[in-house]
Amino acid sequence: MSNIGSYADRVKGFSWAISEQELGYQPGGIINIGWHLSDRLCQKGLAAKKALLWEDHQGTEKTFTFDDVRVLSNTFAVFFQKLGIEPGERICLFMDRVPELYIGFAGILKMGAIAQPLFSAFREESLDTRLENAATTAVLTQKKHLPVVRKIRPQLPHLKYVIVVDAGDAPLREGEIAFDMDSATRVERFEVFPTKAETPSVLHYTSGTTGQPKGAQHVHYSLISQYLTSKWVLDLQPDDVYWCNADPGWVTGTSYGIIGPWANGTTQAVLDSGFNTDRWYAFLQKHRITVWYSAPTAIRLLMREGTDAVRKYDLSSLRHLCSVGEPLNAEAVIWSQEAFGRPFHDTYWQTETGCIVITNVPGMQVKPGSMGKPFPGITATVLDLRTHEPITEPGKVGLIALRPDWPSLIRGYRNNPDGFAKKFVNGWYICGDRSSIDADGYYWFVGRDDDVINTGGHLVGPFEIESALLEHPAVAESAAVAKPDPVNMEVVKAFVALKPGFESSDDLELEIMNFIRKKLSPLAMPQEIEFVKSLPKTRSGKIMRRVLRAQEFGELIGDISTLEND
Ligand code: PRX
Repeated sequence: MSNIGSYADRVKGFSWAISEQELGYQPGGIINIGWHLSDRLCQKGLAAKKALLWEDHQGTEKTFTFDDVRVLSNTFAVFFQKLGIEPGERICLFMDRVPELYIGFAGILKMGAIAQPLFSAFREESLDTRLENAATTAVLTQKKHLPVVRKIRPQLPHLKYVIVVDAGDAPLREGEIAFDMDSATRVERFEVFPTKAETPSVLHYTSGTTGQPKGAQHVHYSLISQYLTSKWVLDLQPDDVYWCNADPGWVTGTSYGIIGPWANGTTQAVLDSGFNTDRWYAFLQKHRITVWYSAPTAIRLLMREGTDAVRKYDLSSLRHLCSVGEPLNAEAVIWSQEAFGRPFHDTYWQTETGCIVITNVPGMQVKPGSMGKPFPGITATVLDLRTHEPITEPGKVGLIALRPDWPSLIRGYRNNPDGFAKKFVNGWYICGDRSSIDADGYYWFVGRDDDVINTGGHLVGPFEIESALLEHPAVAESAAVAKPDPVNMEVVKAFVALKPGFESSDDLELEIMNFIRKKLSPLAMPQEIEFVKSLPKTRSGKIMRRVLRAQEFGELIGDISTLEND
């Protein structure tokens, strides 16, 4: 029997108070995510239960119980306090998926600071933009990432501490501090900072069409949604061993790679390593993973190796599979049924929503290719593209919109109230995606309503890439758009007009690609550059990315007169 039982009954009798009561939260009282991920579970008798089964690409293994998480997160919290970091200040986690990332996250929240996780693949400019916007006080990192941090540090007056979790004997510079979790004096008792529902907790950066990345500010009350969706959608049960292969630099890796599962007292397995079919199957087999949360790009990569690759392993422990981040194509659902004996269940949500909002819950008939239905407690619809009125006609495409009344919706974009205000129309929160709803109430994703590029489930903002391109001496103007890709769904393609005196060539293309990889990240690197004489523009001079995108997708752009007048 699944945790959710009957979807229809849950929708009828739904109140977020169900989650509040299960977590023992009294409205108006204290709620601290860090405490809920550790101390509370120990108080409930789970101290000796395994919380984290960790492994890296070399096969090094470490195991932590919930009591270890409690004591070590206390140790982190006291360390931060002794440095003089105050509640409300931002501490960035700039690390690979090492245990210190997961446990440090809980420690940051316990002492009332804000956790700011960032991909360790970010290079100087991507990191700088986000640390500057957040006025980050401290960065928790590894030795191997120090060179990037050191490069940008002089530009970041707010950055007081760079904390290195594996410094060993490495020489550190002024303002760099070693913190070795394993050998630090363990702190048994710690008074958790009394955060309330609306106290900021996690700050995630996400990309939009215009401007630099936006800092999506979550609060401690988000736990109410993250706990219950983990229980009902991921169906986490006491004996489960759960694997979420997302990096916590991405909201999936925090909401469902740390908070939701641990708040449910679930044993989590973490593999600190990139994609590799055999390594992944071996990991599933070895840890007897029961619930797996993955993404369409990974599933498509696995599909390429076929079911023979699956048969080499005993994956009979798997009982529930979920996917997020991009459209889960029908073929992938059908293939997973054949390969693993069960379908992947699609889940749709965003950095801003903080939790799964539309999904195929266990027990619901899966229509391959559909995202499913709204989670109980989420009021969703699609709005007419022009009038912004709810569409009642089945099958008609509109904008996905949600009533902004669930616990984990972000409370704003940092330093960008206008950007946040634009997300609301007629009392609806607009996700920025298009979908239709069929006669049975299932949502069918159509595409994004903006120019953001979704590559392998990761959103990349065209503006950030274009700004970086303009820093290259040969680039006069540029546009970054999505180009379809069989595995990653989309990749970045850049159109570049060169400055006088520069000639297009394969060497220059490679040079510009590498320039972006080093400045931003491998994800943001264009996979192709097309050199053009000029770019299509509106009368006011704005580059019409949509025309270029349509060209890549072989779509008719139709009437561009409205764009021209922009
Ligand atoms: O466009 C949608 C796509 O990813 C966007 C959110 O990206 P991000 O904020 O990085 O969060 C990703 C993890 C929650 C959405 O606006 N997206 C997410 N899930 C799906 C999806 N597109 C289609 N189907 C999904 N299941």
